[in-house]
Amino acid sequence: MGGTSITGCFAPRLLLLLLLLCVLGPLNPVVAEDVDWTKFVDLFIGTEGPEPGTAFNAGNVFPGAAMPFGVVKAGIDTTVFNASCCNANGGYTPDGFVTAISLLHESGTGGGVKYGVVGQMPLTTLDGVNVLDNLTYMQPRKVHDKAEVGLYTTELGNGVVAEISATRHAGFIKYDYKDPGERYVLVDVSHFLPTNDEVNLAQFYSNGQIEVSDGGRKYKGYGIWRGGFNAGPDYTVFFCGHFDQPPKSAKLFSGPYTDPYWPNTTNSQPTWLNDSTTATGGTNGYQYANRIGALFEFDASASEVMSKVGVSWISTEKACNFVDDEIDGWNFDDTVEAAKKTWNDEVFSRITTTDLANVTRLTMFYSALYKMHLIPSDRTGESPNFETTEPYYDDFYTLWDTFRCTNSLWLLIEPDRAAGMIRSLIDVWRNERFMPDGRSGNYNGRVQGGSNADNVLADAYVKGLKYGINWDDGYKAMKTDAEVTPYNNFDIENKGTGSTKEGRGALDDWLKLGFVSTSYSRSLSLTVEYCLNDFALSVVAKDLAPDDYQKYLNRSAGWRNLWVPSISSLDFTGFLAPKQANGTLADPAYDPTSCGECEWSAIAYEAVPWEYSWNIPQDMRTLITLMGGPATTERRLDLMFKPGGRPGAIGTNSLGDTLFNPGNEPSFATPFLYHYLGRRQWKSVLRSRQLVDQYYGDSPSGLPGNSDGGSLDSWLVWNLLGLYPVVTQPVYLLLSPWFDSFEVRVPSFEGEGQGEETLRITATGLDKGYYVQSVKLNGTPWTKNWVSHEDIAKGATIEFVLGDTPAEWDTGDLPPSPGHVEL
Ligand SMILES: *[C@@H]1O[C@H](CO)[C@@H](O)[C@H](O)[C@H]1NC(C)=O
Ligand SMILES: *[C@@H]1O[C@H](CO)[C@@H](O)[C@H](O)[C@H]1NC(C)=O
Ligand SMILES: *[C@@H]1O[C@H](CO)[C@@H](O)[C@H](O)[C@H]1NC(C)=O
Ligand SMILES: *[C@@H]1O[C@H](CO)[C@@H](O)[C@H](O)[C@H]1NC(C)=O
Ligand SMILES: *[C@@H]1O[C@H](CO)[C@@H](O)[C@H](O)[C@H]1NC(C)=O
Ligand SMILES: *[C@@H]1O[C@H](CO)[C@@H](O)[C@H](O)[C@H]1NC(C)=O
Ligand SMILES: *[C@@H]1O[C@H](CO)[C@@H](O)[C@H](O)[C@H]1NC(C)=O
Repeated sequence: MGGTSITGCFAPRLLLLLLLLCVLGPLNPVVAEDVDWTKFVDLFIGTEGPEPGTAFNAGNVFPGAAMPFGVVKAGIDTTVFNASCCNANGGYTPDGFVTAISLLHESGTGGGVKYGVVGQMPLTTLDGVNVLDNLTYMQPRKVHDKAEVGLYTTELGNGVVAEISATRHAGFIKYDYKDPGERYVLVDVSHFLPTNDEVNLAQFYSNGQIEVSDGGRKYKGYGIWRGGFNAGPDYTVFFCGHFDQPPKSAKLFSGPYTDPYWPNTTNSQPTWLNDSTTATGGTNGYQYANRIGALFEFDASASEVMSKVGVSWISTEKACNFVDDEIDGWNFDDTVEAAKKTWNDEVFSRITTTDLANVTRLTMFYSALYKMHLIPSDRTGESPNFETTEPYYDDFYTLWDTFRCTNSLWLLIEPDRAAGMIRSLIDVWRNERFMPDGRSGNYNGRVQGGSNADNVLADAYVKGLKYGINWDDGYKAMKTDAEVTPYNNFDIENKGTGSTKEGRGALDDWLKLGFVSTSYSRSLSLTVEYCLNDFALSVVAKDLAPDDYQKYLNRSAGWRNLWVPSISSLDFTGFLAPKQANGTLADPAYDPTSCGECEWSAIAYEAVPWEYSWNIPQDMRTLITLMGGPATTERRLDLMFKPGGRPGAIGTNSLGDTLFNPGNEPSFATPFLYHYLGRRQWKSVLRSRQLVDQYYGDSPSGLPGNSDGGSLDSWLVWNLLGLYPVVTQPVYLLLSPWFDSFEVRVPSFEGEGQGEETLRITATGLDKGYYVQSVKLNGTPWTKNWVSHEDIAKGATIEFVLGDTPAEWDTGDLPPSPGHVEL
């Protein structure tokens, strides 16, 4: 982006600091642009859970090589043999054996594993190896894998050191065979990442083809797989591989289909197709086709073998063009350096600091910024199911997670990306009738709550995002969510009560009753989410369809239909409660501290009603009144964070023992609701600091659970910045920065090439404490505990003065409650 970025070196105070750091500091910082921020990225944060060395309750973060939102995420795939423990959702687990190096992965996801396809595996012997059975050739790792931005290194038990890098559409792998002996690269086209615990959401291989040419120096073809988290149908990935040298031999093989429900078929033996240059699984479209692959053998004198492989979702020809265009020749280091440069230019340089004193903190910040740029995948030009000239993104996994604060950060610092995603969401609606909430493998699926693309669109709309977005279509897409009941896909997990594929499965109730009744599973959390979705419609309608405005605003208050003033829990009264269609309470023994199994068929999804009862960002004013006023509400909020305050378990995705759940999205905004009470900003800051200190760090287990496609990471970024967005409103709550300076590049929301401004955030007194004493906006004292998007979008300076005691400095207007309606 062009623009008007001015570096901190022009400010005398910062200049002084830089000079001081130059003299004193070991890091010898220069201006922000010259810093290689990738040095502060630890790719293993979020790859282990609380049990060291395992992925149990880990962040499922992908630690391999990738570009920002790259199609290719190149890394290892490992086995996990303990079904009650983990799945290798990001391919990598700290334990287990390596079965392949593959090119497509998700990051920070859960549920049925998706991708782990287009693989290679380096071997040094064929003794005992059955190429159809990964258990006969999988390798342990000799030492802990190493990773830096753009480069992943694993040292296998067979002595091979594999270095892995990536461009947007290609992987680049360098095998160092170390010990003298045989050298093979196995390409099992039928390889994919399995799922241990949810067989109904496991992937499986459907079909494929592979063709070798140039004496085995090149291969190309495609694989077809199906299933995974959204129970998607077949998806096809085309590939085009090159080796840097001709192999001694290249042999194709095929073997019987492996039935995921009939695992013992892996004992089958391959058929070698010795005289063929093409192996085909079966008639295209047949799901139970043969497995196929190729085995390449290299000369024993070759200590190093390099391979680059392009992928496309359209054709082998495109896959070949990608690898040719993106990797020139065989200079592996060039590809690694290009990846680092791209990350610095496109991502890290957008938020920089001159405060380089605490490397732990820098590592937490830049690693989190990194991890929120892995999915969705930018597959522009690669939409296989419909032709389009719009941007195309896949792997929204899921908006239920990212709408709460991740999309808002992309929007602020990369409006071009945010707009591309939004245009892609609208385009999916244009071609497939509904915007997705979750989408992967080019297929909408797995709606956990509301139709949260509505929130993402509204958030961008109220902040004035243009970038060629067709907002008329955007509003029509939102209106489809609000008015058209999606067909029921009869998901067994929600007992078939409404679609989980897209849209709002319980819309019939919502339109008829103004709340979702217990005829649907997750009725309480669906009600809460549909309210925000309809609020999202109202803010866009206000401009684009004024006649709709009041209707959707009214509908956004539907949560009040489930509010039961007489229900008490833990000495507080007034809670959301599940109701039957005739308005009566569903369960006389209802307990707001419990959500039963808390999953798809529960009354509330992945959080207790206590928690969901706070999820009313559009009308905190009414909520606080219903809760009994600011003083009672404050005590009630305090209880959310009381150690040991959670009476029961709330299933997976939970951590700690407070009613507040640090590991899951419905809790994301709760710590900052003190802002709405007046003169209590200090308490939001206290929570922010406590939670970051308690649950986040720079170790492999430094995330409180699944990263959810970077959602937890973006929550951390906002906290460390000292801001938190109120999604669907042009509002950012002020917290307390963890660094004494930030420069945030804020590009114009008008469109490409329209310049950019700088948002400067400074904090003095960090050495004394973290409580805000006073704030200045552009040099003028500021007493509101929030700023509007307009306040910062054209560039601004927010100066925080911090100290060690709480101060009731926030005497100005409370953050707005624009969804307030008198009913
Ligand atoms: C499986 O993993 C879980 C979680 O790490 C652990 O508690 C359990 O002991 C493991 N079971 C086996 C048989 O290793
Ligand atoms: C490896 O083999 C096992 C046993 O046949 C199978 O369950 C698994 O899906 C295969 N693939 C991987 C990548 O682990
Ligand atoms: C595979 O397992 C199934 C179910 O256990 C069994 O009925 C079948 O005979 C086995 N097939 C082979 C080829 O061993
Ligand atoms: C094909 O190749 C395999 C493996 O090298 C060999 O064992 C087999 O005898 C060959 N088959 C034929 C028909 O040449
Ligand atoms: C650096 O930051 C970490 C994480 O916030 C903190 O635990 C540590 O105390 C800090 N170190 C110093 C010297 O301030
Ligand atoms: C919104 O609700 C108010 C209060 O119940 C009612 O008077 C008004 O007619 C409603 N407007 C629409 C458009 O539904
Ligand atoms: C409400 O509906 C439930 C379930 O159909 C029924 O058991 C209950 O008697 C009804 N209550 C009233 C007041 O109609």
